Formats: sequence, C-alpha cells, structure tokens
Amino acid sequence: MNHTKTQAVTLVLAGLSLLGGCATAPDKDPSQDFQALMQASFRSQGIASVARLKQDPSQQACSSPQLSDAKALQAIREAAQASIQPPADGRYLGDWKLGEKLAQNGRGLTWTDASAEASANGAGCYNCHQLSEAEVSYGTIGPSLRHYARNHGAANLADAKGQAAVRYTWGKLHNSWAALPCSNMPRFGHNGMLNPEQMRHLMALLLDPASPVNAP
Ligand code: HEC
Repeated sequence: MNHTKTQAVTLVLAGLSLLGGCATAPDKDPSQDFQALMQASFRSQGIASVARLKQDPSQQACSSPQLSDAKALQAIREAAQASIQPPADGRYLGDWKLGEKLAQNGRGLTWTDASAEASANGAGCYNCHQLSEAEVSYGTIGPSLRHYARNHGAANLADAKGQAAVRYTWGKLHNSWAALPCSNMPRFGHNGMLNPEQMRHLMALLLDPASPVNAP
C-alpha cells in the first residue's frame, strides 16, 4: 500500500470510530473521559466553583444520549413538579417594573460576587425571549412572551383561568421542567438563581395588565 492509500484507510477508520462504528465496544465509558476533560478544563474561583459541573439526576438524564423513552421523561417531569414550592405567604405577584429590570439584567453568579445570597442576580430573560415591543435586542431560543396574559387566558387573574395561569407561570419560573422536561429554560427557583421575591416581580412582568409585556 502506498503512503497516500495508507492515509486514506486511516482516515476512514478514524471516521468510522467517530461514528461509533467500531466492531468492539470501548473498554470504558466514554462519558468518563468527557467528565475528566471537563474537570480539567475549569477551576474554582470565588463562588464560581467546579461544583457547578456536578449534574443532578434529572440533568444527567437530560444530557444522556440514551434519553428517549417516555417513562424517563415522565420521571423528570414528576420530580420537577414535586420540587415546586408555592410562595410561603401566598403572594404570587410583585412589581412589574422591578421584574422588567430583572428580565433585562443578565448579570450574576459570577466569581466577583461575595456570596450567592448577597449577589442580586439578574434573570436574563431577554437572552432567550422577546418581552415587549420596545425591546431592541433579544434572543429567540424561547418563544416571544408578548401578550402573555392574553395568550394564557389570564385577563382576569381572580377567575379560575387566571388562577391557573398564575400557578402555571410560578411553576415555570420555579422549575421549567415541570411543564417541559429537559427544556432549555433554566430552572430558576429550583437552582437558587432567583429568590421568591424576584420571581414575584417577574410574575408581575408577565401577568400584570399594566406591564409592557401585555401592552396592546
Ligand atoms: C436559556 C434560554 C432561556 C432563558 C434565559 C429563559 N427562558 Fe423562558 N423559555 C425558554 C425556552 C426554550 C422555552 C420553551 C420551552 C419551555 O416551555 O420550557 C421557554 C418558555 C418560557 C415560558 C412558557 C411560555 C408559555 O407561553 O407557556 C415562560 C413563561 C418563560 N419561558 C418565561 C421566562 C422568564 C420570565 C425568564 C427570565 C426569568 C426566562 N423565561 C428565561 C428559554 C429560556
């Protein structure tokens, strides 16, 4: 075999093994190599520690290439539903103006923060969602949240439909996977990124008729 042919065969073999086409099973779980690579690539600094690389069981399941069966997804959904805590004092709605500031602020959980509790995290909703007509720049990973109250039949927050929308929205902010397991939306309350007071302000941003989200 000449040199060029040898190279071609080697390339094909490398390609096959990348596609998982090896005839024999790998001697160890390739995800272990990945974990080791991740651990070696980051270091702890301040509150931003490598503990963040540790996935909880639901995240592990969502990250697994084998996640395909409905039962596993249902288990993640149920765990998320069980994690949701309604506000201790029964108050779901805060001030939409403070909610808007949070939604447009993507800062927080960084190594320069003194502690996770002391850092007033932003919510960064704008990174993934359109929130108002006036917004110039926003991400589109999530759906537009404009006209949120109307779209959820929550014109009157006191009636049954309005109450259902309030509970659904609180759940979405607390643990988004309760409604859609493995969604790209962060599990804000569950992971301690937002506290209940901040969640209340974001609830108002989405549901208060005076909020720019609900402007006609
Ligand atoms: C990293 C991207 C990302 C960020 C940041 C994010 N979301 Fe989401 N959000 C999504 C995605 C994707 C969906 C659609 C899938 C789902 O429902 O989980 C979604 C869905 C939603 C829904 C359900 C929509 C509906 O009409 O039922 C609400 C409400 C919501 N997001 C609110 C927020 C708020 C408020 C914030 C800020 C605290 C936020 N999201 C931050 C990605 C994100």
